[in-house]
Formats: sequence, C-alpha cells, structure tokens
Amino acid sequence: MSSNDINSTLVENRLFPPSEEFVANARIKPADFTALHKQAEDDYEGFWANQAKQNIDWHKPFTTVLDDSNAPHYQWFTDGELNLSYNCIDKHLATQADKTAIIFEGEKGDTRHISYQQLHDDVCQFANGMKARGIKKGDRVIIYMPMTAEAVIAMQACARIGAIHSVVFGGFSADSLRDRIDDAGAVMLITADGGHRGGKIVELKEAADKSLAKAGSTIENVIVLKRTGHDINMQQGRDHWWHDIIEDQSTECEPEWVNATHPLFLLYTSGSTGKPKGIQHSTAGYLLNAIVTNLWVFDLQDKDIFWCTADVGWITGHTYVAFGPLAAGSTVVIYEGAPVVPDAGRFWKICEELKVTIFYTAPTAIRALMKFGDEFPNKYDLSSIRLLGTVGEPINPEAWMWYHKVIGKERCPIVDTWWQTETGANMIAPIPGAVSTKPGSCTLPLPGIIADVVNEQGESITEANKGGYLVIRKPFPSMLQTVWGDDQRYVDTYFPKFDGKYYLAGDSARRDADGYFWIMGRIDDVVNISGHRLGTMEVESALVAHERVVEAAVVSRPHEVKGEAIVAFVICQGERPVGEEAEKMVQELRAWVGEQIGAIAKPDDIRFADGLPKTRSGKIMRRLLRNIARGEEITQDISTLENEGVVKQLQGKE
Ligand code: WT7
Repeated sequence: MSSNDINSTLVENRLFPPSEEFVANARIKPADFTALHKQAEDDYEGFWANQAKQNIDWHKPFTTVLDDSNAPHYQWFTDGELNLSYNCIDKHLATQADKTAIIFEGEKGDTRHISYQQLHDDVCQFANGMKARGIKKGDRVIIYMPMTAEAVIAMQACARIGAIHSVVFGGFSADSLRDRIDDAGAVMLITADGGHRGGKIVELKEAADKSLAKAGSTIENVIVLKRTGHDINMQQGRDHWWHDIIEDQSTECEPEWVNATHPLFLLYTSGSTGKPKGIQHSTAGYLLNAIVTNLWVFDLQDKDIFWCTADVGWITGHTYVAFGPLAAGSTVVIYEGAPVVPDAGRFWKICEELKVTIFYTAPTAIRALMKFGDEFPNKYDLSSIRLLGTVGEPINPEAWMWYHKVIGKERCPIVDTWWQTETGANMIAPIPGAVSTKPGSCTLPLPGIIADVVNEQGESITEANKGGYLVIRKPFPSMLQTVWGDDQRYVDTYFPKFDGKYYLAGDSARRDADGYFWIMGRIDDVVNISGHRLGTMEVESALVAHERVVEAAVVSRPHEVKGEAIVAFVICQGERPVGEEAEKMVQELRAWVGEQIGAIAKPDDIRFADGLPKTRSGKIMRRLLRNIARGEEITQDISTLENEGVVKQLQGKE
C-alpha cells in the first residue's frame, strides 16, 4: 500500500479536558507533563536512565543505558541485574505486606483476596514446585489457563526463577497450542482441568491432552490446577496436580537474579504470514515501560482498585494485570468469566461491589455492552470509578460518548491507549491529568516515545490530517527484542524501510492540527476481530488444510460489535457447493477453522466460487474481494480479469 492510498474521512473536533478535581489529584499534572517531555527531548538516554533508577529495584546497577551497536537490535541497561517478581512483590513487603494485591472473582461468584504477603508465599511455593520438577533459568514454560489468580502466580513464579513463560490464550485450539509449544521448545505446560466461561466449562486439559497426543512433543511435565473439579484424564508420570507440587514447598524462594536483557516472556501474535511469531521481551526494559505507563497513563495511586478486563493470554493482560500494576504496588481485579453472565450487568456489578476506581477494556466490549442498553449500568453504583481506558482498536465516537456518559458519568477521563504486543506497553495515550481527549484519538505520544507519521520516503508528514505510516523513531526500553527463533523476521517486519532507522508499527495514522494521533488501520494483512489480532493468511492456511478446499482468500468487512468480521472466499474440489450442500460446508469449515486456530478465527461469511478473481499475472485481487465482502458496488475495471464470471458467483448473484 502506498501512503497516497491512506485517506481519512473522519473529522472529530470535540475536546474533553480533565476536570479540575482530577487534575488536582493526578500524579502527573500539566507542568510535570511538560517537564517529562523536556527531559526526554534534552537527554533521551539520561531520561530513561533516570526512570530506570527511580522505578526499578536493581540487584546490580547498570552502567550502560542503551547499547545500539547491533542495530536494529537494541539493548537497554545491559549490565544491570534484577528480578521481575522481586520488583512486583518483595519490594512492597516492608511497607504493605497486608495490602490486597489481587481480588479474584470467578464466573460463578466465588471470590478470593490475596495480600502481597500471600502472593509472595504462593509464588514462592509454586516456583519451588517448578524447580523440583527440574525447571531452571531459560527453560520455556507454556501457560494455558483460565483467567484466575493462579495464572498470574504461574507467570510470576516463572519470572522468579528465570524461566521464560509463554501464555497461550485459553480460547486457542489444541493445534494452536501445539504449534506454540513446538516453536518455543517448551518443557513444561501449566494448565487447569477447565475454566468457567459463558456458563460452560472450557475444557483446557482435554485440549492440552489432544495437543500433546501427537508424537514428538518437548513437554516433560504438565501441571494441572484444579479449578472446575470435573473429571479429566491425568497421565501418570507426566501430569501433576498444582496442589500436589506445592505441598511441603517452602514459602521462600530466592529470586534468580537475571541480566536486564534476559527474556522475560514470549507472546505469540499474528503477522502477515500464516505462522504466528513469538514476540520476545526483555526483563528490565519491559518492566520499566510497564511501570511508568501504569503510573502515568493509569495514574495508579495507593488507594486504587484497577480492573483491566484483558485475559493474560494477550499482552494487555501481561502489562496491565500480571506485572505493571503489581510493580506499582496496586490492587488488581481478575475476573474469570464472560461479561454477560448471568446478564449484561456483570461488569458493572463487579465495579460496584469491588469499588473499582480504574476500568480498562476494549472497544468491542463497550459496543457489545452498549447494545444491551443503559438499564444495566444504571442499576449499579459506578461512583467509585475515576478513570476509564480503552485498547485494541480505534474506538468509534458513538461508543466513546456512551462510555463517557453512561459509565463515566461525564466525570472520568478516557485514556485511549495505542500500543502493540511488540511495544510491550502504551506508546501513544493521554496522560489523563495533562492531556485533553478527543473521541477516537489516542492523543499524544508519551514522554520518551518518539512516534511519527511518515511518507513513503520516511519523511515526517507535517500536513494536518494527511495519512501515512506510523513509526517510532527511537528505540524505547520495552521494544521487542526479536522474534523467537526467527531473527530475520524481526528485521524484515519491523525495520524494512527507511534504512532500518525507524520501528515500523504496521499501522497507518494521521495527525490533526493539534498534533493528535488518529490510528486508521493496519497496512498489512492483519485484521482486528474483537480487539484480537489475526493474520488473514493464518485463516487461509487453516482453510486450505481442509481436504475439500483447493484455494481460499480471506478479507475482512466492518462489523458493528467486533470491529471487523472475517469473510472467506473458498474454492472447493469438484463441483462448487450450492444450496443445502453449501450451507453444510459452511458449518463444517467454520468448525474446522475453530479447531485449527480457535473460535475467534471462525469466518463470519464463507462464499464459494469456481475460482478466485485474479489478474492475468495470477495475483489474487484482494481489493476487489474486499469490495465484494462489504457489498460495495464494483467500480474497478474487471474486464482484465482472468476469470470475470467468478465475481458474480462470489457476490452470490449466480
Ligand atoms: C494492534 C496491536 C496493545 C494491546 C492490544 C492489541 C491496534 C491497539 C489501539 C488503539 C487504534 C489500536 C493497532 C495495533 N490497536 N490499540 N488505541 N487505537 N488501534 O495488541 O494484538 O498486538 O495489536 O492493535 O492496529 O497495531 P495487538
């Protein structure tokens, strides 16, 4: 795509300044904001070095700030040593051992409050249990769990002993799980018998068993949390109950002091090929941006109860549930289940009961809950909430206004946070006491984040509202380190342009006359379904793996709640399925994709034809397919098409 194609039609001029009361109590006031930006501008490395000294407890202090000798690989605080779990837990024990670190609520209503001391003891016991099963520094451990306090305990325990964890979202299928196990070369899998979601049991252990059934797995031990208590298979020798491995373990576990750049975790995310990539994050750089964004953007203060609704299977659940808020000494809420169980008031009920002060969720969740009407939020007392946040996709102004009025009662700033799995933490987002917001804009880059919008030549676009490539000009501490096992893909994906000088985010964006950033969409074949990133190629590979499918092309169309929906154009072996046979085939393929990837990847529409529209040189005309998927009139010249007739079939007209 060339930057000339990036056009914007949306113009939104409403400006929402924070209330005087909010500003008066905010951590970062307008003057602090200006000072932080000035420090970062005057001395970029010095700025981050200061932040790292102030916010992290170092076992051994660093002397090098940024090592860019191997660009585009950047290493921060290279000779420093630390432990992340120490920084999230032990650091607070002297001052607030009894403070609640985690409030857990199960879908069925069971709750548990865990103090920092208790969290320390639980993490140490589990870490010792892992060590007893042979886990050591650098080993990869897969976490495939329901959204429970134990998922965070497992992540913290890995960090404590220097094991590299990779959380796989519980909604991913057995096959997806296996791909990630294999790619990471993981030796341990931590899972549960199941989880409660949407009134049903998510059969996690069953999926784990299925994924390990295929020969050649590197997994030696499987740890199983008893969550649902329903019957599952336990394989003698390989599988161990969580409660058994912690039995008799000490509640002390000396943290493994690791180098600043020691890999903290891998998190698989979709790109423009069929294979997800293992985004590798460092320990210190990642932790630093996690802490400062929790303090700056979420204004986390001692009395706050922070609820970020993201699952730990996504980066948001790492930075704003499992690590950042704890490192900032806060109290986090973890809710296991679906937002609509028993009804669409569940989120608001939790906010009232737990007195949530900061609430962070995705636009898709806001749109879904908005559809149920105001009566649900209006039934509950939401006066404890003081700050709202969104992430994952652009939020449409209508949903923004609903969030602002019905949830925030026109009192709470909304932080629309732009970032990615790769950036580890918020990059462009309002600091709520200092930056006025506009519905649909993620506003301004944070201090020390040199974001820009550039043209095809890598030059800054200064003209207001002209679209271009979103880039980050300088390396920042929480930037991904590489793609696990495929360093070339790291270089090719993130530094392909402009002499490798800028981090290329993969999004298009524009800046308005006030310099506010507006994210316009992806520039690659990545779609955003309910805030979850998915490569169209991944869905295509899954489809063609079905015995009857010869060829498939996948595009997206806008969707009212999910943001985008998947449309698949499929060519089958033999006769093109029509009528009842087509309907059956649609069901079969949807289920198939669900098995191959996970439920989120199931196409919303599947259309069959005798062939895909291709140019004479054999390229699939994706733009045409997008027009068809959206039911738009076809204005482009299709007379040069190799196979003009298929267009009518794909439109469903024949
Ligand atoms: C992609 C990253 C970062 C956690 C959740 C998603 C889109 C993210 C916003 C936002 C507009 C956004 C971008 C980005 N995105 N936040 N506030 N406004 N778009 O993480 O799965 O790594 O996806 O999500 O397209 O590149 P992810």
